[in-house]
Parts: sequence; structure tokens; C-alpha cells
Amino acid sequence: MKLAILLSGRGSNFVAIHEAIARGELDAEIVCVISNRPDAPGIERARALGLPAHIVDHRSFASRAAHEAEVLRILGQAKPDFIVLAGYMRLLSPDFVAAYPMRIVNIHPSLLPSFPGVDAQAQAVAYGVKVSGCTVHFVDENLDAGPIIVQRTVPLRDDDDASTLAARILDEEHVAYVEALKKLASGTYRVDGRSVVFDS
Ligand code: GAR
Repeated sequence: MKLAILLSGRGSNFVAIHEAIARGELDAEIVCVISNRPDAPGIERARALGLPAHIVDHRSFASRAAHEAEVLRILGQAKPDFIVLAGYMRLLSPDFVAAYPMRIVNIHPSLLPSFPGVDAQAQAVAYGVKVSGCTVHFVDENLDAGPIIVQRTVPLRDDDDASTLAARILDEEHVAYVEALKKLASGTYRVDGRSVVFDS
């Protein structure tokens, strides 16, 4: 299974996926890593690991479409089976999503459909929920809304703030992303409406 990673920042989910591959736990290959931010620590890490690393700075392009065209050009050469959004903080246009239907996956730090969008962990704390977590899902044309592949739960503590909760969720994200990609690598699933159904 060939994976393209898109990221914008720290890249800890990318590193967790890379480490699972290196351990032999996930049968996959990272064929390219693309960052829209030149200063993303994640792209530095990709370079240090010797992976094909590309910076496609959205600020250097006149439009969203032009930026996405360059990302799509690189993806077209790398030929991934799946595009893995790992803290990629850009919305993808419907045209981009249509180029890879049910082949783009994202991780979000809440139990969707609760708390989509930015600052999901702060939203969870502010709402006063007792349980949150993370969601790995296919990307469709709506924000944080595609069919769900894996979710993992995290309890909230009374003294949690957004940052302590984010740290606890992040540990689960690293497990969830590898689990989801292993399921996709198995190939034994179908998307039935909103449901991703796996053969047991
Ligand atoms: C993660 O918490 C991920 O769930 C979140 O950004 C962080 C990236 O961390 N993504 C979103 O909020 C997407 N809407 P990382 O760069 O260390 O993987």
C-alpha cells in the first residue's frame, strides 16, 4: 500500500505511521510527504528520514486551485493508493476530493460528528463532555464529515484544559491511524453509504 502524507505542522501522526511501517506492523510505503508550510517540523523529519519531501507553500500560489494543481501533480507522479492527511490544515476543494474518491483519509481530534473544525479539543472542554477521542475517516466534500474508519475514546478529567486533553487524545491518534491504515491495507472493506464495513 503506497501512502502520500500531507501535513502542515509537527507531524507526530506521520512519524507514528512511519514507525509502524519500520517495525513491520503496517505493510505500507510512504511514497511522498507534502507540506503546505515551509517551516513545518514534519517536513524536516521527512527529509531526515530520507523520504521524498515536498514543500508546496500555499502562499506562493495565486489561488486555491493553482496550489491544489501542484499538489495533484506531485501526487500524480508518486501514485499513492491513499492520501493521508496528518495535521493538514487546508480545506480540500471538491475537485481535489473527486480526484481520489474514498482514497483520502483524515484524522480529527474528536469523536465526530461532535466538534468538527478547528480547536476540537477546546470545543470538547467548553461543552463539558465526559468522553472525547479521535476519528479517522474518509474525506468527502464536507468538512470532517466522511465515512468513519476508526474511532478511539479518551475520558475527560475534571481538571482538563484543551492542552492536557489534546495530549491525551494525540496518544490515541497515533494508535488509531495505524489501526485504520492496517484495515485499509487488508483491502477487505466496502463503503456502504456512510458506513465503512469490514469483513470479519
Ligand atoms: C492532530 O491532533 C490532528 O488530529 C489535528 O492536528 C494535529 C496534528 O498533529 N488535525 C486536525 O485538527 C484536522 N482538522 P501532528 O502534526 O503531530 O500529527
